[in-house]
Amino acid sequence: MITFALAKGRLATESAELLARCGVDTAVLYEETRKLVLTSADGNYRFFLVKPSDVPVYVESGVADLGVVGKDTLIEEDRDIYEMLDLGFGECSLCLAGFPERKDVLTSPALRVATKYVNTAKQLFAERGEDVEIIALHGSIELAPVTGLSDVIFDVVQTGSTLKANGLVVLEQVFTGITARLVANKVSLKTKSAEILPLIAKCKEEVA
Ligand code: PRP
Repeated sequence: MITFALAKGRLATESAELLARCGVDTAVLYEETRKLVLTSADGNYRFFLVKPSDVPVYVESGVADLGVVGKDTLIEEDRDIYEMLDLGFGECSLCLAGFPERKDVLTSPALRVATKYVNTAKQLFAERGEDVEIIALHGSIELAPVTGLSDVIFDVVQTGSTLKANGLVVLEQVFTGITARLVANKVSLKTKSAEILPLIAKCKEEVA
């Protein structure tokens, strides 16, 4: 049996569709249920649907063998897992964003940056030698500058519609090419190689 940790949210549908194309029985993922452990009817696969930031935790621990999660989360979590494959979907950028009339805001002293990517933001500004205040939030990041909680945000931008709807613009694209990645537990890759390697090979074919 292969156990997957799958990120809930914007990657969920495409993750399930890709796995189905790779021959994984994913029907259980479409059932209306509050169950947290989902097992395929053929008993070959088990799925945990978790918050994106928890996927690397489950995979690093070995509780899950494989995971599908965004590169943004992998950068932020920096876990001891193997990144096996760029799955190509869910493309977005990690950006600094703020109000269009204050495009020079990034150079202002004591900049307040709201983000759910706290580690990544801290590293970014430390590398730049800039002393900023990082405001850790868990969602609806765009609300921070709108309400005056922060000057700018550091967040993923996919379609740009959330920024636009809140009167914000990209000030700087920091990381581009953020896509969904297939990740693996280091031990599982050895102990379950007969099951896992053909599946990874199939995924590779599918996304080529
Ligand atoms: C993410 C991100 C932005 C939005 C960007 O939030 O934090 O708010 O998506 O996407 P867009 O450019 O296509 O508008 P998500 O929907 O994951 O939810 P959250 O606010 O709960 O973090």
